[in-house]
Amino acid sequence: MAGRCCSMTHSPGLVTRGQIALQVKELGVSPGDTVMLHASVGSIGWIAGGPSEVLGGVLDAIGADGTLMMYVGWEGSPYDLLVNAPQVPPAILALWPPYDPATSRAMHAWSILTEYLRTWPGARRSQHPDSSFAAVGRLADELTRDHPLQYGMSESSPLAKLCQHNGKVLLLGAPLSSLTLLHHAEHLADVPNKRIVRYKAPILRDENKAWIDIEEFDTTECLPWRKPIDMFEAIARQYLQEGHGVVGRVGAATSYLFDAAELTQFAVDWIEEQFLEPPKEVSEAQVRIADDRDHRELADLYAAMEEERTGTPVSSSRLSTRIDELLEDRDRQVLIAETSEQLVGMLVARVESAQRGVLEYAFVDSGYRRHGILRELEIEASTYLREQGCSAVGFELDADNQVAREAWTALGYTPSRESWERPL
Ligand SMILES: CC(C)(COP(=O)(O)OP(=O)(O)OC[C@H]1O[C@@H](n2cnc3c(N)ncnc32)[C@H](O)[C@@H]1OP(=O)(O)O)[C@@H](O)C(=O)NCCC(=O)NCCS
Repeated sequence: MAGRCCSMTHSPGLVTRGQIALQVKELGVSPGDTVMLHASVGSIGWIAGGPSEVLGGVLDAIGADGTLMMYVGWEGSPYDLLVNAPQVPPAILALWPPYDPATSRAMHAWSILTEYLRTWPGARRSQHPDSSFAAVGRLADELTRDHPLQYGMSESSPLAKLCQHNGKVLLLGAPLSSLTLLHHAEHLADVPNKRIVRYKAPILRDENKAWIDIEEFDTTECLPWRKPIDMFEAIARQYLQEGHGVVGRVGAATSYLFDAAELTQFAVDWIEEQFLEPPKEVSEAQVRIADDRDHRELADLYAAMEEERTGTPVSSSRLSTRIDELLEDRDRQVLIAETSEQLVGMLVARVESAQRGVLEYAFVDSGYRRHGILRELEIEASTYLREQGCSAVGFELDADNQVAREAWTALGYTPSRESWERPL
């Protein structure tokens, strides 16, 4: 048996409670912290002692004065049946069991840990049936108490209290799209046309079932967001690009730590900028990984880049071999942006070492600049490099390329080392 699946060299490998506590601390969690957790246990690894040891590790990191909270919901909710329904079918009214914060099961789909935390000794759980939060630790009662049944992500919700108590949000292998905190930002953002839902929910009141009317902003799609990337992920990626938050690893999982109040304010500003101001000119270009079929157009784009750089015309057929090398290199990902008619941008991400990635061949067709294409390409490139285990990314830049300096600065890059020369 030994070495079959528990070897540390096999990803995702065996992960212990102590290792989780240590790595969570390395991310920036400190004793006494108030932490909201999102976790994908499977992506952390094979947890020695089972999934509850993930909670144990985080609790060890925050210590006796800390507080750990999760968004746990209610596994048995009739929400999907009743949301915006004109009326509740009589059979449902009669038969559906009520939500009881003390016993109703947590949403398994949000993480196996929701139910573990809800049933953790000393856990408190909020009274909202669908936006239910559970917490353990010093502020557990404070965070979960008096959760309003109307607008469950509002100024008096557990999320608002998390911000007031300088809380942090910890993602262990959970995607950026799962940041529940951003529902609070959606609630706070002062923009028109937020979608509202109304539904009835059965809750236990004085030992009896009561059907209550709930109204709140739609957590499925509060605002009309039409881009392929998830809106919460777009917000979080830009937040990271601008140098906020911490990215690292816990076990095998890409993990993030954010300051809750700061991220909320960033997201409110972001949402207000997106949905209040006249829409920015946004490109129609889609970003994807290049393959052999893009060879000819990539060579044309590369030739245009060389021509702009050197000031002399370059024949794309001369660059064909280089394109082959780029597409075949297993340590590179060639990303392209295309409209329905043509390729308009490219960026190559290369794994330079175990820790560091490099960006190369950044180019956007001159007719498509300032439409956010480099930003979209960079998001894909940095995601790829992070998945390869890189913790930093850089590139070489000609000192006199002012446009590129401005663009990369806007994307969160700063100069790190200089290369000096003189003509001979
Ligand atoms: C540099 C280059 C790739 C930028 O591509 P782009 O698609 O126009 O960039 P984006 O539209 O995604 O802009 C990204 C950010 O940079 C900013 N930016 C882009 N061009 C800028 C400029 N000329 N001046 C100031 N800011 C600029 C944008 O405002 C944006 O920030 P924002 O979203 O906060 O507004 C493009 O100008 C280019 O291809 N230049 C020639 C090749 C080159 O120099 N490559 C760089 C080699 S390192």
